[in-house]
Amino acid sequence: MSDQQRAACVIGYPAKHSRSPKLHGYWIKHYNIDGDYRAEEISPDDIADFIGSLASKGYVGANITMPHKDIAFELSEPDQRATAVGAANTLWLDAGKLRSTNTDVEGFIGALDASSPGWDARTNAAIVLGAGGAGRAVVYGLIERGIGKIHVVNRTLEKAQAMRDRFGNSVQPATWDELPELLKGAKLLANATSLGMHGHEPLNVDVSALADDAVVSDIVYVPLTTPLLAAARARGLDTSNGLDMLLHQAVRGFELWFGTRPKVTKELYDLLAADIEAS
Ligand code: ATR
Repeated sequence: MSDQQRAACVIGYPAKHSRSPKLHGYWIKHYNIDGDYRAEEISPDDIADFIGSLASKGYVGANITMPHKDIAFELSEPDQRATAVGAANTLWLDAGKLRSTNTDVEGFIGALDASSPGWDARTNAAIVLGAGGAGRAVVYGLIERGIGKIHVVNRTLEKAQAMRDRFGNSVQPATWDELPELLKGAKLLANATSLGMHGHEPLNVDVSALADDAVVSDIVYVPLTTPLLAAARARGLDTSNGLDMLLHQAVRGFELWFGTRPKVTKELYDLLAADIEAS
């Protein structure tokens, strides 16, 4: 390690499963940067101390994953996106001050822009499944892009209602029973639940009622092609998956830590996709 080398890490509990070291490691090599990116498995008991001593541990910043996004938010100076979503997934030291943002917002939006250019001009109403932390980032991204009506479907209706309290009346809480009616002619459907993920319950949604120019997005990336995305593709609809989101959310952190804005390329997608498929 040279004096100039910059290091960042992903902090989680667990952290070993994270794909971020492979992803950032690829960019470090590709852009010939004197940098390092590691995984740090830190327990809830130790997380506050760890975040408080990032600089002395030699880090210029970090990604934050489960279950530490709330405490990372509390212990840092959040930007507008982290404040709006109420969670932080990216930290960086700015002249000694620890700042944070939530790049899941631009991850979701960046993946949509790449897979379905012009989607926002076509979409008047969107359907988001899920009202957890990922759902909040997805909904905030849609609001930032001017989508005026967002149906938030959630098992626990109170959480969808809390989302309306947070973001205003463009959020329309709904139950799963209402979904078949909402799907008719809809232009954007985003799954922000864990349903359909390997080892979780399946997600049963009939995409046949969606508009012919609809786009379907899924935050799940194991498997890469969820049954929801397979059905959407079979209909010829544009789709973006959880790996697209993961790659696009990583761009800003890399830029903040290492000073180069990296590109999401097919080569990088294929590298990570092979890793996921092998697991
Ligand atoms: P994250 O921060 O990744 O979004 P989360 O806060 O635990 O994780 O949210 C998970 C989302 O998946 C929630 O919307 C959850 O619905 P509830 O709010 O009702 O819990 C949804 N979810 C998880 N398992 C589900 C299931 N079996 N059926 C319906 N929704 C489910």
